[in-house]
This record gives sequence, C-alpha cells and structure tokens, in this order.
Amino acid sequence: MKLKKMLLYAIVATAFAGCNQPIKTIYLDEMDLSKMEIDWGENQINKSVDGNPLSIGGERFERGVGTHAESKILVNLHGKGKAFFAKAGLDDESGDLASVEFFVMGDGKILWQSGLMKNGDPPKNVEVALDGIQKMALYVSDGGDYIHYDHADWANAYIEFYGEKPVPIEPVEHETYILTPPVPKTPRINYPRVYGAGRDKPVIFRIPASGERPLKFSASGLSKGLTLDATTGIITGKVAHPGSFDIRVTAENDNGKDTQDIRIHIGHKLALTPPMGWNSWNCWGLSVTQDQVKAAADAFVNSGLADHGWAFINIDDGWEAAERTNAGELLSNEKFPDMKALADHVHAQGLKLGIYSSPGTETCGGYLGSWEHELQDARTWASWGIDYLKYDWCSYGKIATDRSLEELQKPYRIMRKCLDIVDRDIIYSLCQYGMGDVSVWGEEVGGNLWRTTGDITDSWSSMAGIGFSQNKNSPFAKPGSWNDPDMLVVGQVGWGPDLRKTKLTPDEQYTHISLWSMLAAPLLIGCDLSQLDDFTLSLLTNDEVIAVNQDPMGMQATKVFQTDETQGWKKELLDGSIAIGLFYTGKASPEEAIIWDGEIKTKTISVSWDAFGISGKQKVRDLWRQKDLGIFEDSFESSVNYHGVVLLRFFPE
Ligand code: GLA
Repeated sequence: MKLKKMLLYAIVATAFAGCNQPIKTIYLDEMDLSKMEIDWGENQINKSVDGNPLSIGGERFERGVGTHAESKILVNLHGKGKAFFAKAGLDDESGDLASVEFFVMGDGKILWQSGLMKNGDPPKNVEVALDGIQKMALYVSDGGDYIHYDHADWANAYIEFYGEKPVPIEPVEHETYILTPPVPKTPRINYPRVYGAGRDKPVIFRIPASGERPLKFSASGLSKGLTLDATTGIITGKVAHPGSFDIRVTAENDNGKDTQDIRIHIGHKLALTPPMGWNSWNCWGLSVTQDQVKAAADAFVNSGLADHGWAFINIDDGWEAAERTNAGELLSNEKFPDMKALADHVHAQGLKLGIYSSPGTETCGGYLGSWEHELQDARTWASWGIDYLKYDWCSYGKIATDRSLEELQKPYRIMRKCLDIVDRDIIYSLCQYGMGDVSVWGEEVGGNLWRTTGDITDSWSSMAGIGFSQNKNSPFAKPGSWNDPDMLVVGQVGWGPDLRKTKLTPDEQYTHISLWSMLAAPLLIGCDLSQLDDFTLSLLTNDEVIAVNQDPMGMQATKVFQTDETQGWKKELLDGSIAIGLFYTGKASPEEAIIWDGEIKTKTISVSWDAFGISGKQKVRDLWRQKDLGIFEDSFESSVNYHGVVLLRFFPE
C-alpha cells in the first residue's frame, strides 16, 4: 500500500515538475548550426542562405535561420520541451522552380507539416506542442522534385522549454568500411583495354597496370609509328593508317606476369570507354591553380590511381585571363603561368590534360568565353597540348535567340568544326545541363559526352536524384558517346579554396560509384588528391567495379524494378555476363529522412530471374568484395544497407 502511494506520488510529481519551473526560450539562431545538415550552401543566422535579409512572401524577419533543402536538425529536448514556434516559408530570393515542405517531428512522428510551399507563398505559422517529446527534428524536404533553388527560412523560430536546455544532436557519423581487397603485388593489367585515336594524331596511352614496382612492360603487335616505354608502360607515337588492331601487352615483376590484349582503334572515334579522370571544379572551384593541377597529375601516379585507368586531368573554370591579346588570343591568367609546360608535365606521365570554356562571352564563373573566337581558341588549346574540352553553355543563354533545338545545338556544332580542324585529338564534352534532351542529339553535334543534369552536390538528394533519374538516357550511350550525370563527390570537396569531407555517408558513396559505373558515366573525381584517405582510394581502385564502367560494349544500365524503398538495375557486358546493382534507396518520407537512433537499417532485396531476363544457373560474384557467392539457379537475395548497394556480376554457367 505504502509502495503504491509512493509510486503514485512519483508519477504526479514528474507530470507536474515542468509546470513548477519557469518557461525559458531558446531561438534556433542561438543553437549550434554546425549540427544542422544542409544540402546546398551554408546555414545562415538571421539571413537567407544567399546572405540576404530573411523575407517570406514579402514579409521581412529580423531573426531566424536561412537554410536550403534538404535541411535537417535533430534536437534533444530531454523531455522538457513545451512548444516550438516559427514562421516557415521559402525565402523571396528563391526561384520559380523552388518548392519545399517543412516538417516538425517528434520521436519519429510528424507533429506538424506545412504542405507544399512555393516561392511567394506567405509564411506558415508554426505552433507545435512538445510535451513529453525527447527528440525533435526540423526538416525541410525538396517538395518531391529536386533541391534546385529551395532556399527555405525558419524565421522567428524558437523553442519554449522547462529546465534543461535543448541541445542539437550531432548528426550520426557512419564509420567507413573498406570492401575492395588490397591490390596484389603480382602484375595485373587493368582497364580500360580499348583506346581510340585519330589518324596521324598523337597517341598517349599509359597501360593501366598494378603490381609491385618496378614493372617491366613488353608488347607485340604494336603498329608502325607507336613505341612502348618498357619501364613506364606508356605507349606514344602516331599511326598513319586507320584500322583496329590488338597489342598483346605483358607486365612483369619478380612476383609474376600478366598478359592482356589492348585494342587500338585509329581513325574512328575517341573516348571509346567513358573518360576516367579528375576535374578541378568540385574541389577547388574558381580558385584552381596550375600547381594544384600539376599536383593532381602527380597524385594520379603516386597514389596508384593511374594503375587503375585514371588518365584525364581536367582544368575547369577559373584558368582564363581577363582580356584577350590585341590579336584576339586567349591567355591563361596568373594562376596558370605556363599551360604548355603543364601539358608537357602531364603528358610525360602518360596522362591527358583537359580544359574548360563556354560558347558565350563569359563562362559561368564570369571568365572569358570563346564567343566569336572558337577556331582561334581551339588552335591555342591544341598548341598547348590540350586533350579534352568541357564546353559550358553559361552566358550563351543571352546570345541564343530562343531555346529551339537549332539554337541549343548551334554553338556546339561550331566548336565541333573547329576541333576537327586542329592537329590534335580533343575529346568534346558538352555541358548544357540536359536542355532539349541533349542525350538524343549530343552525338549528332559531335559530342563525346554531354551533361544530362544541373550541377551535382555532395548530398544524397542531389547524387541519388541525379543518378537514379538516368534511365531514360540509356539508349543513347555507346562507345564514343556518353551521358554525363556530372562529377564524383567523394573525398575532400568544397568548390573553393576551403575543403571539407564529402557529406555522403560511406554507403551513399558506394552507391555513387556503383551507380555511375553501371550508368557507363564518365568518372571524374572531384576531390583533392593530395588528401586521399584509404577509404576514398579503395572506392576508386576496385578494378572489378571499374571493369563494369569501362566495359567495351558501352551499354548503359537500365532500371529493372523500383519499389518505394528499393531499385534494381542491370548492365549487359561484352562477355555475356550482366552487372546487377541492388540499391536500398529508402522511402522518400520525412520519418525516414531523419536518423533517429543512429542504427543502419538493412533490407533484403532479391533478384528475380524473370525480371532481369536471365535463365538457368548463374555464378554470382560480389564485385566490391571481389568474391564469388556461389551458383544460383532461380533466385538470389542479399541484405543491403540503407542508402547502400550490393553490386553483382552474374555469369551464366
Ligand atoms: C557550371 C557547370 C559546372 C562548372 C561551373 C564552372 O555550373 O555546370 O560543372 O563547370 O559551371 O563555372
């Protein structure tokens, strides 16, 4: 009896404890915003994400947080919260395409949601009771489309609480885990194993071979005009006659040897497999310098990346001088004192150098474009030794009279003609963000690859949003012609001088590399190579995964199934096997978007023979682990991590 009474007293005391304490207030803008996740830009205190005064539907606010979808913050209320108040809406600086939804959640459940909001909508009044809630989450979704222009404000946002102060919870940091087995000491000739060059155009091909150095290379069947450096494995020269031929290459060291055929096509097409390389944009942005580019080339060799097929070192925007010479010549700026010397340095290592320009008067970064100087610029680049051009629409939008197909194609056709005139092979990368279904006509205007989307950022919504929407472009990929879903966002990125670790979790990074490999996408590393950690290196040096990307047949994967939470993709490979990617994408629901307890969820995903168009016995291999999983007859299933992937290759028995 006594015990029961005491218990009752304890319950009543707990229930009323809060009421005896004074109500306190903490504003969102007083909290530690470093814990607030944001998928584009940086969270701003009392300002919009672009740094303007907070303004929603014409109404100005002094206080609040300017953020960008997707945005999340998890707050520990210790069960002492009373209520959350705010005015929520899209900031008036957002574009017409902007749409978001605001959510207040408590302990895994939605407590309040704004409904879909568009630019110009008046602010929604948020008043949410928090009694008994342990953890509260504020979440801004992309409104079901893409995060483009989603500048979202939590204006006048504050929590009322009793006693212990609410504190933001550190976002869960998932530990990296390496699946790629260590590179063996025995020689291995990796991928790509096909190479295209023009007639009488300089050939530079570094045989991608791993194994303990020194390696000794030899070759038979080298066509007239080509030589192989036995120490470096670099093939150089020029071939006068068109045609295709196989070079039988051997790489040897004290541990053994490997012999493989490398097929060279002369006078046909360039980029016979998706270009693999590095681009300065996602790390250095406009601050890129010649030294950084040179360091990237050196890192390709020193880190071993070049042994796994990585060959292009591409300078993005930010290299151009402010003015042309009197003769109209385009120069590099003071950050790039000697382009020719840079190209020579890159070529000496068997690598290639890429550059960037725009058909407009200005590039996207405000540097000089090639407008009305196309041939002159192509000649300048060829004289430096440039092997790859990214040609970015940018300010050409002001020159084009409309967005008709003819106008969209015109500047790309002009530059194509110029590249055909110069005495160097220059791979041609169109960048116009997918306008006018560029996949359909990118090849026709002479592109070797074309961007199919806007710019990628290092968030799940951006990477997955781009990657998983590429199915429609699959029919247009083939050797020499590739859909480009933008560059890789692994490692240290930052789009400017200050770099930080990618925001993608390890599982999301496995998905990124697997999906881009399945899509036969150009693989352009966007991180600082001087800070490569073991995990990032392992993601970029798995030869069985790269082999899927570099398969000579050049098929792009297609989507086989999609449920609310999973997807399965398939890519046919030249040897009759197929690569299969099983992805646990998760539900696009607010409850799923927040990781409440830090646990990585898994899901069992199965491969149905019928759906994937396979029959009979299959030898199934796990490509990341480089391990055979056994022979399967009519079904296969695997456990897949949240936002992660299992990448398989099925060999018919
Ligand atoms: C555009 C492109 C990016 C990058 C920048 C450079 O945004 O899409 O990939 O090249 O321009 O200014």
